[in-house]
Amino acid sequence: MNVIVMVDENWAIGKDSDQLVYIAPDLKRFQALTKGHAILLGRKTLDTFPGGKPLKNRRNLILSTREGYEVENAEVFRSIEDVLAVAPKDTFVVGGASVYLQMLPFCDKAYITKVQGAYPADCHFPNLDEDARWRVVEEEGPFLHEDLRFSYVTYQRV
Ligand SMILES: NC(=O)c1ccc[n+]([C@@H]2O[C@H](COP(=O)([O-])OP(=O)(O)OC[C@H]3O[C@@H](n4cnc5c(N)ncnc54)[C@H](OP(=O)(O)O)[C@@H]3O)[C@@H](O)[C@H]2O)c1
Repeated sequence: MNVIVMVDENWAIGKDSDQLVYIAPDLKRFQALTKGHAILLGRKTLDTFPGGKPLKNRRNLILSTREGYEVENAEVFRSIEDVLAVAPKDTFVVGGASVYLQMLPFCDKAYITKVQGAYPADCHFPNLDEDARWRVVEEEGPFLHEDLRFSYVTYQRV
């Protein structure tokens, strides 16, 4: 499986149930990379999507323990085991923090958007630069968009 995430220089990913920043070209790239693939996300991250709705043109696999919780145009799973039983190999894990942590062991490619700067944050992604099981295979950037400098760094499990 793949994982895709935007981190700041401390590998922070969110604050108060929202993203740290939104960068239009990065959102475009996210759409392009994940389109046509399954995406896997936690219930709280779904709440941050426009209108709290699943993304179009891809299979949305949502994790939630809530009883009776259903989402139109998405499939809801109650456990990692349940979702692993059906998730295709090319699924993209798209967050949030709790789902990244649980799913990282099942991922072998990581698409990391690194934003320069340190933001106030309350959740993080594991620092792959300090993890010998991961190595950088591609790096693009830095790019500049509305005063934000960011790079696309792709990691592969060794
Ligand atoms: N920087 C980025 O690229 C990026 C991407 C995505 C999200 N984020 C950020 O991440 C933060 C949200 O992360 P989060 O950890 O609070 O929430 P989350 O991972 O999106 O969702 C957590 C919820 O998912 C469900 N869940 C998680 N593990 C489960 C399991 N094993 N079995 C069944 N259900 C499970 C539970 O839902 P129930 O409570 O319904 O049981 C849990 O409360 C936000 O700040 C968001 O903006 C950042």
